Amino acid sequence: MDVREQLIAIIADGKIHSGESLGEKLGVSRTAIWKQLKRLEELGLNLEAIKGVGYRLVTPLELLNKACIKALLSPSALAQLRDLYIHQTLDSTNHRAKELAEEDSAAGTVILAERQTAGRGRRGKSWVSPYAANIYLSLIWDFDHGAQALEGLSLAVGVGVRRALIEAGLPEVALKWPNDIYVGNAKLGGILLEMIGDPAGDCSVIIGIGINVNMPPSQSGEIDQSWTDIKTVMGDLPSRNHIVALLIEHVFTVVTGFQEQGFDIYRNEWMEADRLRNCQVKLIAGNTAVTGIALGVDQNGALQLRLSNGEVQSFVGGELSLRPDN
Ligand code: BTN
Repeated sequence: MDVREQLIAIIADGKIHSGESLGEKLGVSRTAIWKQLKRLEELGLNLEAIKGVGYRLVTPLELLNKACIKALLSPSALAQLRDLYIHQTLDSTNHRAKELAEEDSAAGTVILAERQTAGRGRRGKSWVSPYAANIYLSLIWDFDHGAQALEGLSLAVGVGVRRALIEAGLPEVALKWPNDIYVGNAKLGGILLEMIGDPAGDCSVIIGIGINVNMPPSQSGEIDQSWTDIKTVMGDLPSRNHIVALLIEHVFTVVTGFQEQGFDIYRNEWMEADRLRNCQVKLIAGNTAVTGIALGVDQNGALQLRLSNGEVQSFVGGELSLRPDN
């Protein structure tokens, strides 16, 4: 850990710390501490200076903690977990996961970051990723049947994420095809799958999961759709370490099940959580748009739409948008 990371770890408790005691603990001058503290504001941390006494974080922080997360995992999840990396700052956990997967076989590796400077969403969008506020997680998994068999994987992961969130105490978690996590009409999280290797054979899949836990209002202006976070939904701030452990646990389970039996075993559960089932929707794929009634998904995870002529068609790509009900 560098000085800034050590400093954050000390003041995370929200208690008052004098510049002198911080300097002593970190072996640097009070001026160096003051400079570091000023820089914390760049991370969006709200620091209060109490004249003549010291400094404190206005809101205490629960930082991600490897030992704490591992202590919450079941023996079977621990056996599947190859390694767990926690970074303070990454451009993107998916990007780092890709680098690791390219270097070596890294299946079962989980990468977390306290913040992402270039968090990636679907369709080239960015993913707003402020410091110590939300969950940014990537997991590497190996497949040997190629991308064809992976069509339903992102939907299966959605089922795993939903199970984790329900176990964490969230009510009414819904899924929107292909892989958005919703509560009510607001997006709580998203899943971004990226593949490296042979699309027709051996490949590694990077499963990126972003969950809004406590999005600072100051950052939310950059989000271009209706959103929510766990704190708003539950009225309370849950432990991110606990939610991360639940995500690892449930995503390992569904990915293993998917690898052995395919998407079909998750289909009913996905359909029960489908927030657009029987709704009039518009599917946008490139320059074309198709409208119809969403009927759910087939055994491979393809979206099924009843078109205006009554015909039912399956779709595997594209962006789904809810059509105004008029
Ligand atoms: C979406 O657009 O809904 C997908 C968002 C996926 C965001 C996560 S955060 C962790 C991982 N790293 C990234 O850069 N993106 C994914």
